[in-house]
Amino acid sequence: MSASEILEILHETIYAEHGSALEMLAACKQTKSTSLAYGYFEHAKDEYNHTKTFKEILSNKSYNCYVDIVRKFRITPIGLITKGYVSRKGYLIETMNLKDFIAYVYTNELLAETSFAKIKKLLGPNNKDSNRISNIMDDELRHHGMAKEYFLKYYPELQPWQLLYYKTKETIKNKTRKLYHKNIIFLEKIFFPLYSLLTLISSRLLIILNLTEYKRTDCNLMDINARSIL
Ligand SMILES: [Fe+2]
Ligand SMILES: [Fe+2]
Repeated sequence: MSASEILEILHETIYAEHGSALEMLAACKQTKSTSLAYGYFEHAKDEYNHTKTFKEILSNKSYNCYVDIVRKFRITPIGLITKGYVSRKGYLIETMNLKDFIAYVYTNELLAETSFAKIKKLLGPNNKDSNRISNIMDDELRHHGMAKEYFLKYYPELQPWQLLYYKTKETIKNKTRKLYHKNIIFLEKIFFPLYSLLTLISSRLLIILNLTEYKRTDCNLMDINARSIL
């Protein structure tokens, strides 16, 4: 796997972890139960720490890469929404019922642990980064265990096939998110020449404009036509 592909995986993981941290914090703010609030808060704290760890690994890994490659892996808060890690409709705790929300945590923590095992393999054995990922994997299993405990306590009638249903649903959702992201990259490649052409045309129009006509020195700006663009 190329260095750029490894950076891309780390980049996606940072968004996923940051998204989880925000979801847990939102759940912490919403709940009326003190014990749940404590659990959500501790979980959010772990997810923020995971985000920080992955950011540090990404930063170290990109150190020797070309600037043009590294530039693609900048982290922006809006990326959480455009990449689908936080929904435009609101946080999960606001759009799901509690049972589905806990099921979401239960399945996603397990899926996260599996995908981190793959990242750990990519980073190679017995190095500082892979040891840090091992610690994160322990955290994810602990989160999964906590959600499972909650399930067994409050929904003991839940059948194994229902949990399998939740897991399949989340796996499909994760794959769809990846497909959506690949489509965006593909469309960007197609539309880039069109954007460039439109930019070129508009820049030609700006050259034609005579800016001396729009001198505003010593003018009362309130007298300018409201429809004026300059
Ligand atoms: Fe995490
Ligand atoms: Fe987690």
